[in-house]
Amino acid sequence: MKAIVCKEFGPPEKLVYEDLPLRAPSDAEVRIKVAAAGVNFPDVLIIQNKYQFRGTPPFAPGGEVCGKIVELGAKVTQWKLGDRVAALTMSGGFAEECVAPAAACVGVPDSMSAPVAAGFHLVYGTVIHALQDRGQLQPGETLLVLGASGGVGLAAVQLGRIMGARVIAAAGSADKLALCKAQGADEVVNYVEASLKDEVKKLTGGQGADVIFDPVGGQFAQDSFSCIAWKGRHLVIGFASGSIPEIALNRLLLKGCASLGVFWGDFIRREPEAQAANVRLLYQWFEQGRLKPLVSREYPLAQGAQALRDMADRKVTGKVVLVV
Ligand SMILES: NC(=O)c1ccc[n+]([C@@H]2O[C@H](COP(=O)([O-])OP(=O)(O)OC[C@H]3O[C@@H](n4cnc5c(N)ncnc54)[C@H](OP(=O)(O)O)[C@@H]3O)[C@@H](O)[C@H]2O)c1
Repeated sequence: MKAIVCKEFGPPEKLVYEDLPLRAPSDAEVRIKVAAAGVNFPDVLIIQNKYQFRGTPPFAPGGEVCGKIVELGAKVTQWKLGDRVAALTMSGGFAEECVAPAAACVGVPDSMSAPVAAGFHLVYGTVIHALQDRGQLQPGETLLVLGASGGVGLAAVQLGRIMGARVIAAAGSADKLALCKAQGADEVVNYVEASLKDEVKKLTGGQGADVIFDPVGGQFAQDSFSCIAWKGRHLVIGFASGSIPEIALNRLLLKGCASLGVFWGDFIRREPEAQAANVRLLYQWFEQGRLKPLVSREYPLAQGAQALRDMADRKVTGKVVLVV
C-alpha cells in the first residue's frame, strides 16, 4: 500500500510517498481502509523525533483517520467488517490502510463526512476535556484562546461559544483573526502587532480572562499571567512556539489562579467513560447544527509532506486533512 513514509527523522522534506508494508492486526486490533487522515501539530514533531511518542523508521505518521474496517483481530467483538469508524492511531494514518486498536475506534454519525470525521476527535476531544473537565469554564466567563486560528485553537473558539463564554481570540495575522471572528470569536487580538496583556486587560475592563487556552507557550504563556483574572485557569495545551516557558509561582499566588496541564492522550486511556461521554456531547452538538467543524484544506495523500510543511510554517488555519 502507498503511504507517506518517514525513513529517517527530520523535516517534512525527508518524507517520501512510496509503498510501505502493513503488518496484520493483532488480536485486539482492526485494519482500516483509510478515507481521510487528520493532520495535527504532533505529526510535525513525531517525524523529527521530538514528541513523547517515538516512532521507529520506516513508519507513516498520522495520528487519526476515518475509514472502513476491512479486517478484525481474532478477539475483536465490538466491530464488524464494513463499519465506518474514526480511529486514533498515534502514527500510521497517512496511508491507504492502517492498523488501530479496536478500543481506539469510535463509530461516526452518517451525517459526518470522512474529512470532517478524520479531523474531529483529536481537536474537539482535547478542547472539551480542556475547557469543561480541566478549566471548569462557566457560561458568562471570558475565555482567551491563544493560537486561535490553529487546529485546537479554532475548536476552542467554537466550543467556548457553545459553552456560553465570551471568547477573545488571539492570533498572528489579520486573515487569521478574520477567520476567528467568522467562527464565533467575540473579540480578537493580533498578538504579533499589539501587546497581548494590554489588549486583554482593555477588553476585560482590567479584570483579565477567566480561562486561558494556551497551545502556544513561550512568551505568550508568560504574558498570560499578566492578563488572567482572579481565580483564573491557565490551560497548558502545548508549545507550538517551540519554547516551554518557566512560570514563577508568585504569579499564581498573586492572582489566586491555577495553571492546569491538559493531556488528552492519557485522559482517554485513564478515563475512557468520561471520554465517551464527551464524544456523545460533541456528536449531539454536531447533529443539532450547533457545532460546525471547518476543514479549511484537503490535500491528496501524496501531498502529506506539503501539509506538514505548511503546518510547521504557520500557514495552516483550522483543520487540514489528507484524503485518500
Ligand atoms: N495537550 C494535548 O492533549 C494536546 C492535544 C492536541 C494538540 N496539542 C498541542 O497543541 C499545539 C497546537 O496544535 P495544533 O494541531 O492546533 O497546531 P496548529 O494548527 O499548527 O496551530 C498552532 C498555532 O500556534 C501558533 N504558533 C505560534 N508560534 C508558532 C510557531 N513557531 N510554529 C507554529 N505555530 C505557531 C500559530 O498561530 P499564529 O501564527 O496565529 O501564532 C498556529 O495557528 C501543539 O503543540 C500540539 O502538540 C496538545
